[in-house]
Amino acid sequence: MKILVLNGPNLNFLGIREKGIYGKEDYAFLVSMLEEKAGKEGHEIEAFQSNLEGALIDKLQEAYHSGVEGIIINPGAFTHYSYALRDALASLEIPKIEVHISNVHKREEFRHVSVTAPVCTGQITGLGLSGYILAMDYLKYHENLTKKC
Ligand code: DQA
Repeated sequence: MKILVLNGPNLNFLGIREKGIYGKEDYAFLVSMLEEKAGKEGHEIEAFQSNLEGALIDKLQEAYHSGVEGIIINPGAFTHYSYALRDALASLEIPKIEVHISNVHKREEFRHVSVTAPVCTGQITGLGLSGYILAMDYLKYHENLTKKC
């Protein structure tokens, strides 16, 4: 399966920013963990991080043309207000899993709203970096399910 893992603003600062909330592992650790799992499971994976809204949207549009089959996205703070990112996600009719490292529902009120989750297949929140692993497991499950149909 061809999978795109997108991370939004400040996620390149994992291991530096608010460690009590996001943990001490850095972005490179996250990517290598996902690449290792993808390798074992025979997925082709691309990980992309940007602090720029437009760059994330460009990547989603590129995914349409390059035949990406599943998306794992942590839009960071864009989750809470980016209608442009939401529209870009809505264009793609493939499984899209929104992941949050922290439990956004336990935090400030502005984080309780996700404008992107309604156009995603589902959302995983508050399970740390394992949320990305679980999202990849879901994509595999979904792939097997659609093969059977
Ligand atoms: C986050 C939660 C967002 O509210 C925040 O702006 C982030 C990270 C998370 O992974 O928990 O940057 O998406």
